[in-house]
Amino acid sequence: MIFTVAIDGPAAAGKGTISRAVAECFGFRHLDTGLLYRAVGVKGGDPARAARELTPGDLARDGLRTLEAGQAASRAAALPEVRAALVDFQRRFARSEGGAVLDGRDIGTVICPEAEVKLYVTASPEVRAHRRWLEVGGDEARVLAEVRERDARDMGRAEAPLKPAADAVVIDTSAMAIDEAVAAAVAVVAARLGPAPA
Ligand code: CDP
Repeated sequence: MIFTVAIDGPAAAGKGTISRAVAECFGFRHLDTGLLYRAVGVKGGDPARAARELTPGDLARDGLRTLEAGQAASRAAALPEVRAALVDFQRRFARSEGGAVLDGRDIGTVICPEAEVKLYVTASPEVRAHRRWLEVGGDEARVLAEVRERDARDMGRAEAPLKPAADAVVIDTSAMAIDEAVAAAVAVVAARLGPAPA
């Protein structure tokens, strides 16, 4: 069975947790595409070359989850050559046998417009910054500034800007507990899959 769940949205909206839970619930494979851009951002040197030569080791290195790596990722992700180098791998993953969940910024709009389910997971900048601050600590005002800066860059770039696909189901998690958000996402996927064969 080929079945793609595309989950897009801004930083710290809950995409990662929802994606992992949906993948586990339906036995699908999961790809956190942000990790690809983070690995390119922290690798240094020419970002296009780093994207073309990305290795599994690059994706496993420490430090990919820091605020700095997020900023480096979003700068590298604005470059068309970087995005182009990562398209084929993501498309193959999305359409691989057995079902796949991909989370990122452009999965439903660019990488897999034919995805069977498209979700756009969002929340207010303040709520997202608070959640990220609980993970990384430090100065909450700085985390909020970082979230806003990255939103502006991701939504404003010319190449594959962050926006909901026209046919995406929007899940605003601002006032939801994470298990409610997961349940909402699982319900959308289950409705599209239909009843399991007897
Ligand atoms: O976890 P968080 O939402 O903070 O970030 P991420 O998903 O790891 O993505 C880091 C950065 O990579 C984003 O701010 C985007 O600039 C970029 N990215 C992208 O352009 N396209 C994707 N499909 C995934 C990430």
